[in-house]
Amino acid sequence: MNLPIIAPSVLSADFANLGRDIEMINNSEADWFHIDVMDGVFVPNISFGFPVMKAIQKQAKKTMDVHLMIVQPERYIKDFKAAGAAILSVHYEASTHLHRTIHAIKEEGMQAGVAINPHTPVHLLKDIIKDIDLVCMMSVNPGFGGQKFIEQTYTKCADLKEMILAAGSNCLIEIDGGVNEQTGPKLLAAGADVLVAGNFVFAASNPTATIAQLKSMVPYTSKQA
Ligand code: DX5
Ligand code: ZN
Repeated sequence: MNLPIIAPSVLSADFANLGRDIEMINNSEADWFHIDVMDGVFVPNISFGFPVMKAIQKQAKKTMDVHLMIVQPERYIKDFKAAGAAILSVHYEASTHLHRTIHAIKEEGMQAGVAINPHTPVHLLKDIIKDIDLVCMMSVNPGFGGQKFIEQTYTKCADLKEMILAAGSNCLIEIDGGVNEQTGPKLLAAGADVLVAGNFVFAASNPTATIAQLKSMVPYTSKQA
C-alpha cells in the first residue's frame, strides 16, 4: 500500500446520510475507514456499536480500521471481527493483559493495534512493539472529533519511529486527532504512516478533494536513505 495511508474518521460523518458518506470514501483516494467506538466509561462520550458497524460493513469497500475506546476490550474481540474489523486497536490504558489481548486479536485473523493517550510515553510499548501491527497515537484526548492538536505529538512520533526501526518491526504509526493541512506534513516527516482525519475531511466543502490532498502529502523517508 502506498504511504501515507489515509483513514477518514466516520465519527465526523453525517449519520443521517451515512450511506452517502461511505460511498464518498469508497470512491475517494482514502485507504481505510477509521471507526471510533466509545463506551462512555473509558472516554466521556458514546459513539456507536455493532448495528452501525454492521451497516458500514455492508457498504464499505475498504479496510475497516477499528479504534476501541472502551474498557475491557478483550470481551468483544470476536464480535468486532464479525462486525467487519480488519484492524482492531485497543487502548494501552484500558488493557491490563495487553499481550494476551493482542494475541487474541491476531488469532481471530485481524491485525492488532495499540492506541496510546497523549500522556502515555512511547517507551511503554518497547516490549510489545514486535507483536503489533499498528500504534494509534492519540494527538488529542480521545472522545471527540474536531479538537486541537497537541504539539508534543511530533516528538513522540519521532521517538516511536526510532523504536520501531531499532526493533526491525513493520509496525505502522497512525496519528489520530487534529490532522489537517498544517499538521499532516510535519507528522509524516516525523515518521507517521497513517493519517486519521475526521473534521478536516467532513467539514471541508469538498471532502473527496481533501482526502486527495492528504494522500498527496510526502511520506516519511529515513534520513539514511
Ligand atoms: C477521537 C477519535 C478520532 C477523531 C478524530 O477520540 O479517536 O478518530 O474522530 O477527529 P478529528 O480528525 O476531527 O480530530
Ligand atoms: Zn480514532
